[in-house]
Amino acid sequence: MELLKIAVGSDHGGFNLKKIIIEHLKEKGIDYEDLGCFTPDSVDYPDIAFPLAKRVAKGEFDRGIIICGTGIGVSIVANKVPGIRAAVCSDCFSAKASREHNDANILTLGERVIGPGLAKEILDVWLEAEFQGGRHETRVNKIKIIEGDGAVN
Ligand code: RB5
Repeated sequence: MELLKIAVGSDHGGFNLKKIIIEHLKEKGIDYEDLGCFTPDSVDYPDIAFPLAKRVAKGEFDRGIIICGTGIGVSIVANKVPGIRAAVCSDCFSAKASREHNDANILTLGERVIGPGLAKEILDVWLEAEFQGGRHETRVNKIKIIEGDGAVN
């Protein structure tokens, strides 16, 4: 695996799983920064996901991991940022494909959906898998064109 710097964030719904994921990253010796939240108090997930996604898009981090109750809200927000391809994953197959096919640069997880053991396995698969390029690159490039155009039709 190439050396990565990873941004990690959660709302209150993902707060406990974020702590477990951070311990896992530490054990693996992976460089990370915790971008909040820093208490279990209720916080609106866009306030965490949007700044984190912007910093990944700017290149301050190679990848991001964002956790909320379902992984859905934070993925919707992160995907508003041009250059971000956030994938909500609750299984290892999707996590691998999100890297190999979609070049996902943010993984989102749902603390209320999956247990900590599965979350760590999903993360490991996602960190190891590489974008396959080729026909997948053609497709990802079409996403970039859509982002650039702001085209909806
Ligand atoms: C918070 O209750 C919950 O709505 C949030 O963590 C997330 O699941 C939203 O998608």
